[in-house]
Amino acid sequence: MQITFETKPTAALETDALVTYVFENGEFAQGHIGELDKLTGGLLRRLSKSGEVTGKSLEMTLLHAPAGIKAARLLIVGAGKRDQFNAITLRKVAGAALRHLKSRSAHSMVFLAREGDATDETAQAIVESVIAADFETDKYKTDKKNDKFIDSLAIAGFGEREKGAGEKGIARGRIIAEAQNFTRDLVNEPSNKLTPSILAEKAAAMAKEAGLAIDILDEKRIAELKMGALLSVAQGSIEPPRMIVITYTPPNPKPEAPVVGLVGKAVTFDTGGISIKPADGMEKMKYDMAGGATMLGIMKALAALKPSVKVICVVPATENMPGGRAQKPGDIQTAMSGKTIEVLNTDAEGRLILADGVHYAKQLGATHLVDAATLTGAIVVALANVNVGVFGSEQAWTDRLLASAKAAGEKMWQLPMDEEYRELIKGSFADIQNIGSGKGGGSITGAWFIREFAGDTPWIHLDIAGTAWNDDAKPWLAKGPTGVGLRTLVHLVTSL
Ligand code: BES
Ligand code: ZN
Ligand code: ZN
Repeated sequence: MQITFETKPTAALETDALVTYVFENGEFAQGHIGELDKLTGGLLRRLSKSGEVTGKSLEMTLLHAPAGIKAARLLIVGAGKRDQFNAITLRKVAGAALRHLKSRSAHSMVFLAREGDATDETAQAIVESVIAADFETDKYKTDKKNDKFIDSLAIAGFGEREKGAGEKGIARGRIIAEAQNFTRDLVNEPSNKLTPSILAEKAAAMAKEAGLAIDILDEKRIAELKMGALLSVAQGSIEPPRMIVITYTPPNPKPEAPVVGLVGKAVTFDTGGISIKPADGMEKMKYDMAGGATMLGIMKALAALKPSVKVICVVPATENMPGGRAQKPGDIQTAMSGKTIEVLNTDAEGRLILADGVHYAKQLGATHLVDAATLTGAIVVALANVNVGVFGSEQAWTDRLLASAKAAGEKMWQLPMDEEYRELIKGSFADIQNIGSGKGGGSITGAWFIREFAGDTPWIHLDIAGTAWNDDAKPWLAKGPTGVGLRTLVHLVTSL
């Protein structure tokens, strides 16, 4: 998609569709909207008066051949109440506009940002949401709708003075959104097309193109390093595991600077193992590698954005299968760290592979950790499909993450990590057990399990089980993988 910064007067914008947004009970006298209303001979006011345009969230009004402007169509998107308008709403508006226009065979759009919204962050948010909205999950369909595409986006509503900032925002937004779509592409792959080894190959191809250092540990090296927790999950499958390690080193690394370790769960298919999952809905478990795919996408973005801190990305990749060699409930495993684990439920496998991933990231020099994982069904009970669950061991580090989530327009919510929850994973026959005893708090005991391996290193865990996959298409995003977490973590790392 070609993306440009446009400072021409509104009347002169030539495009298939000029897009803007209006608020509930909004007025049409001032700013860009006032100008547009005047140019079109009071069209906006008439539409509002007649009740056709109300400004209700994501209401779409598409007008053909509007008088007074050069655009072939005018799309007015409802943006809800003005006092509730924020970066997340703007993203939904821009994304929904693209999908609305694309499905109606427009090929170009100009997005008219409203006065007061003209910053590089605005341009970045518009570009990110439009590129994300453009992503389709039709890779394996043979009758792709090839005539439905938008190949040109211009951002207008800014002044000549804001051109530098706007163009910076556009460039950044493109890098981040394309990385997010790279992640979504991986998550969209079914498990027969994306085994742990294929994931490693795709990671290697990305690293090579981006100029990042990569080390892929095969099953032999994984065994030599005594990654017993990862191996215990992998042993039930004929597909061998991989530990993918990608490193970004800044041009002038400072000796005192933090080294960020990003660890992502990549279970390319989770049957549950011997503690097998019900058949109903099991097909969705191809997305159990979303945490790992997110971290790989982040590295792709960081290679282009060049932050000033070193980043080590560690992605343990495996299937969780109930094969003849599969581990069984009650088995005791020794993790790379030396801790012994009683596996009470083979379906709580994500925390097992993360145990070795987190330990290895520390061994490689990470001073600050973040892991992302589709870890628990319980997080859906707690936060539904709305917020990412956030868990942390050091509030200053967690606060930075939460601030980045806000800036990136991703919804995240912190959950408690009291010591009382830790008691629930004390083992009877080994150091720890992989599920909590007693009822409830499943996401928190899962987080505590991983934290045991982070030790004193500041650590954050993101449970993305409820948010990495859209069960239904949204007006601004296709059904399927969302790429959640990527934008927040890119913001976090680039702000260090
Ligand atoms: N991959 C699942 C978590 C999951 C569930 C992701 C639903 C997405 C949607 C994870 O490996 C798992 O099975 N967790 C168990 C843990 C339990 C056995 C303690 C769960 O949530 O049921
Ligand atoms: Zn599982
Ligand atoms: Zn899983």
